This record gives sequence, structure tokens and C-alpha cells, in this order.
Amino acid sequence: MDCLADWPEQIVRVQSLSDSGATIVPSRYIKPPADRPCFESLPCEVNIPVVDLGDPDAASTVSKACRDWGFFQAVNHGVCPELMNSAREVWREFFHLPMETKQTYSNSPKTYEGYGSRLGIEKGAILDWGDYYYLHFSPLCLKSQAKWPALPVSLRETVEEYGKKLTKMSERVIELLSLGLGLDRGRMQRGFGGEEVGVCMRVNYYPSCPQPDLTLGLSSHSDPGGITVLLPDDKVKGLQVRHGGSWVTVQPLSDAFIVNVGDQVQVLSNAIYRSVEHRVVVNSTAERLSMAFFYNPRSDLLLGPMPELVSQDRPAMYQPMTFDQYRLYIRKQGPRGKSHVESLKAI
Ligand code: OGA
Ligand code: NI
Repeated sequence: MDCLADWPEQIVRVQSLSDSGATIVPSRYIKPPADRPCFESLPCEVNIPVVDLGDPDAASTVSKACRDWGFFQAVNHGVCPELMNSAREVWREFFHLPMETKQTYSNSPKTYEGYGSRLGIEKGAILDWGDYYYLHFSPLCLKSQAKWPALPVSLRETVEEYGKKLTKMSERVIELLSLGLGLDRGRMQRGFGGEEVGVCMRVNYYPSCPQPDLTLGLSSHSDPGGITVLLPDDKVKGLQVRHGGSWVTVQPLSDAFIVNVGDQVQVLSNAIYRSVEHRVVVNSTAERLSMAFFYNPRSDLLLGPMPELVSQDRPAMYQPMTFDQYRLYIRKQGPRGKSHVESLKAI
């Protein structure tokens, strides 16, 4: 039997729970004490590095940020703020449509495309306080606008344009990552499989939560793919990044993107760049919407450390694996810190 054919339990929309006005969080969403959020951790002056993508030194600042933090905020990135705002706005409208309309897009764990409320298929798992919408831009054989919401009417056109602009920006970041390793600017892209990359997006919708100190909007995880370009909510914070043993709450700059390294870039770079754990906390007063754009390597390519980065002093840290194999494993288990990439280790 195909274990990814359907969810192991009936899906409950977090938005419905939130809208029901319940004053307590159902036990399915209550995290063990060690995983619960801490709200007063570090002073808010501590923040992920900011990189001006137009700066002549961008490769070295990107490189430093991805070695030290695995994360940075990108400014001067070439995507116009009007498009960023209208993309956020169409998705906000979508999540505010009647539940019957959204349910017609319900997803399954086979591809995750569509409207979803859980990651992973483990029966009885503790769930996260968030709903999402997942869709593909590339390769073209996976792209199907029919699976994107038909409402609001401007959604498909706006999302198409957003996908094009974010793909360009991601290509630029991949060049900078390549240069930052001392390689030629096209090397990392070739490591991704050239033109045949996988591009997809998850729009995360975190409704307000009556007991935010007991749960998480998204459990700690590292992103499995290449790089992620996140457009955070323009008003509500919530993303936390692990740094030196603490959780740092990201303070988004207006009109900036948050970029982070995924597990496949850690593997390609032979762990010079790090995919870092992050999670999302929710709050009792406001909903939060974020758009995570994933730029991934070609999925059927055997991917291991780039030979230029392997030496006697620094042996290959990972065994080659395709992204398809890697992702299958993650799609069964759901978010689990960095345990997935750790288990790939060659020694
Ligand atoms: C993700 C993610 C962070 C956020 O979707 O992988 O880490 O702020 N999202 O929603
Ligand atoms: Ni993530």
C-alpha cells in the first residue's frame, strides 16, 4: 500500500479552531515542555545579518552570513515592494475565504500540493499551530495553475509574477554563494542540475492562538532543499533562528527578504555553509502570514559535496543522495530539527 496516499487522521484546520473562540489549545498541539517557546530570550538588538545584494562585496557578506548564521536578510534585492505587498495580500484574501471554498484545494501527503494543515504522516503526532498552501513553479511538468486557488481572481497572475521575480533573485543568491566558496559564479547552479531546478512555495498561515506559550506555529526544522527566500509578515514577528544555543527572534526590516541555506546547500558545500534550525512562535492577538519560496536542486540528481571542496584535510561529509529520496523521508516524518541532514553523514 502507498503509505503517502492519505493522512493518517482527519484533518482539522487550525483556522477553524482559532475562529471557534476556544480559550484552550487542544492537547494535540501542546508541545513537550522542552520544545515550548521562550519569549524573553535575548535582547532584540541581536538579529540575523543584513546583506545588500547590490553591493560589490555581496559575495563575501553572504558567505560570512551563511557560515555563521545560515540566515540573512536581503535588501536591495530587485523585487519591487508593490509586488511583495500584493502577493501577501492575495494570500491573505485566500485564507479569509469561506472554509468550503478552501477545502476544495485540500492536499494529500503524496505531493503536498494545495491547502494543508500538517507536515508528516505519523499517527498521533503532536501538530503545529498553522495551515498552509503549497504549490509548484518548476519543473514545468509539476507546475499546474489549476491547482492554485482560482480566488481571489488576481491570485494566479500575481503568484506567477512573484515566482518569476523570486526565481531571478534566487539565481543571484546562488551565484553569490558560489563566489563565496571561491568557485566560479555558475558552479553552484551547475551543482543544482543547471536549468532543471525545482521551485515551489509554501504560504504559511498562522492563526492567533489562545495559549501561544504551549505550542509552535512551525516546529524546529532545517529546510530540506537548496535555499529558501522568505517573505515574512509585514506586521507580526514570529520566526526564531537557532544561534549559539539560543533562539533569536528575527526582526524583519521592511521590504526585506529573509534568506536561508537548506540541507542540500550544506551537503554541496561540504558543510561550509550551514542549514540552521528555525521555528515559528505564534501569539494570542494577531494572525501571521509568511511566504516561503524554495529554490531546490534538480530532484533526480545524485547530490554530494562538490569535489573542489573535498580534500584530505576535509573529507566528504555526506554520501550522495537524490533530493527525491531525501524529501520522501522528510515527508513521512515531518519537521525534526536537523536530524535528517545529520543522518546523511558519511562517518
Ligand atoms: C518554512 C519556514 C518560517 C515562517 O516555511 O519552512 O521556516 O516565518 N517558515 O513562516
Ligand atoms: Ni523553514
